[in-house]
Amino acid sequence: MSNDPSASTDRVLLITGASSGIGAATARRAAAAGWRVVLAARSLERLQALAAELGGAQRALAVRCDVTDWQAQQHMVELAVGEFGQIDAAFANAGFGGPRGFQNDTPEHWREMVLTNVYGAALTLRAVIPALTASRGHLLLTSSVAGRRALPGSMYSCTKHAVTAMGEAARQDLHGTGIRVTLIEPGMVDTPFFENRPTSALQADDVARAVLFALSEPPHVDVNEILVRPTAQAG
Ligand SMILES: NC(=O)c1ccc[n+]([C@@H]2O[C@H](COP(=O)([O-])OP(=O)(O)OC[C@H]3O[C@@H](n4cnc5c(N)ncnc54)[C@H](OP(=O)(O)O)[C@@H]3O)[C@@H](O)[C@H]2O)c1
Repeated sequence: MSNDPSASTDRVLLITGASSGIGAATARRAAAAGWRVVLAARSLERLQALAAELGGAQRALAVRCDVTDWQAQQHMVELAVGEFGQIDAAFANAGFGGPRGFQNDTPEHWREMVLTNVYGAALTLRAVIPALTASRGHLLLTSSVAGRRALPGSMYSCTKHAVTAMGEAARQDLHGTGIRVTLIEPGMVDTPFFENRPTSALQADDVARAVLFALSEPPHVDVNEILVRPTAQAG
């Protein structure tokens, strides 16, 4: 069912990786704060269930999107603008990890990880810039503590360093457009990211609150980075 885009002027947040963990928690926090949300990931049924929970078609749009697919990313943005009329913020959050040790992961898994974490985030950035330019909006990217300090044998850490660089590169490139850029750099978070769920970790909602903090600052304040660890995390 199609919405009348003029029916609401509430701001619109697009989130990739919204079917789980940090993305889903951010969607819940944002919806509670009055944002309309566009929920993107590959697991459409989970996105649809979350969209229903967050108020249905007037408030939340579920879009199947594999972030490694440029056409899918363009389609995601077209749907979002078509249904809601605008995108005020985009959170490039989709990603996954892998085992440490350069001998311990397969080349195929590395390829998927680099394509998702780095190329996928770059495609999201590229796809949303026109809409964010129109709205003088806000771009957020999920990097990691692992994007700030190298972890031994971690290709994942390499991908997150690339995302950290992408955030600063985007900030400089978008200077003068009014678009703000925020890097979210969590330490360990208890999500399905881990096969064996960690103890003494952050909860996804802890990171969601950090995202909402950056989003709720006034337009002249650009929170460039938020690095947040669980108190129990040393490194
Ligand atoms: N958990 C941590 O300790 C931690 C710490 C620092 C940073 N991070 C980062 O936080 C982000 C979210 O992770 P999480 O902890 O919330 O893990 P999660 O619960 O496993 O969520 C990962 C999300 O990414 C989506 N995704 C994966 N591949 C995708 C693809 N090709 N296209 C579209 N969506 C894709 C997944 O959805 P589908 O499978 O449905 O596509 C899912 O919604 C990631 O970038 C991760 O690297 C996590």
